[in-house]
Amino acid sequence: MTDSTPTPENAPEQAAPSSQVPPEHLRAIRSFVLRQGHMTAAQQRAIDTLWPQFGVDYQAAPIDLNARFGRDNPKVLEIGFGMGTATVEIAKRLPERDFLAIDVHGPGVGNILKLMEEEQVGNIRVMRHDAVEVVENMLADGALEGIHIFFPDPWHKKRHNKRRLVQTPFVAKLLPKLKKGGYIHLATDWEEYAVQMLEVLSGFDSLKNTAADYAPTPAYRPETKFEARGKRLGHGVWDLVFEKTE
Ligand SMILES: C[S@@+](CC[C@H](N)C(=O)[O-])C[C@H]1O[C@@H](n2cnc3c(N)ncnc32)[C@H](O)[C@@H]1O
Repeated sequence: MTDSTPTPENAPEQAAPSSQVPPEHLRAIRSFVLRQGHMTAAQQRAIDTLWPQFGVDYQAAPIDLNARFGRDNPKVLEIGFGMGTATVEIAKRLPERDFLAIDVHGPGVGNILKLMEEEQVGNIRVMRHDAVEVVENMLADGALEGIHIFFPDPWHKKRHNKRRLVQTPFVAKLLPKLKKGGYIHLATDWEEYAVQMLEVLSGFDSLKNTAADYAPTPAYRPETKFEARGKRLGHGVWDLVFEKTE
């Protein structure tokens, strides 16, 4: 996401006429608004050349992640990688882990593939799809060692709060995908969302907070693009790291 790109909250809500919406999507409250966004020629070229190797198409059945990565290493899911700069840096810092990175934003998909090529990073697979559906249909239980959700859209207007990704029903769907001993790492620059995240995660008996409340930023997480923007606006930053104990 570039600074000039409107955030979903500023973007006009473009509801498609109900006659054009597939029935299964009619009731869904999405955590994103699909923005057109400009795809550069380099991003498009990265998609054209690298998608066959690093892209994963959505399917409504569990996939074999080890087969996709060609090895049996711990798998981490990242939801909402934006332009992918932090994701690629984390994958470099943690070469023994494999990252399934999901976003819906086309230019970001092109950008992360381009960065992977530039930095010679091979332990990321990229999906362009609603992560909620991926979690619901495509991941086997116990498949993940970790889950990263960094600076999810804050949907700060009261009437939009319902679009926030981190809510109890979605976390309840996420947790079975984590192994025992696995972790969930969230970060936000929106204080009221941080409070909501803490409440939601604390509500699960199977999760144990690794800190008294908010955690120190783990060494593997660099500053993200959205975080830098928040800091320029004077926002604080809150990380949360919970471990799955059962
Ligand atoms: C505010 S941006 C943060 C991007 C990045 N993590 C960062 O910190 O710079 C949130 C991202 O989440 C993506 N997103 C929101 N809901 C999503 C969903 N259900 N599935 C996949 N991506 C989603 C948006 O497209 C956007 O790129």
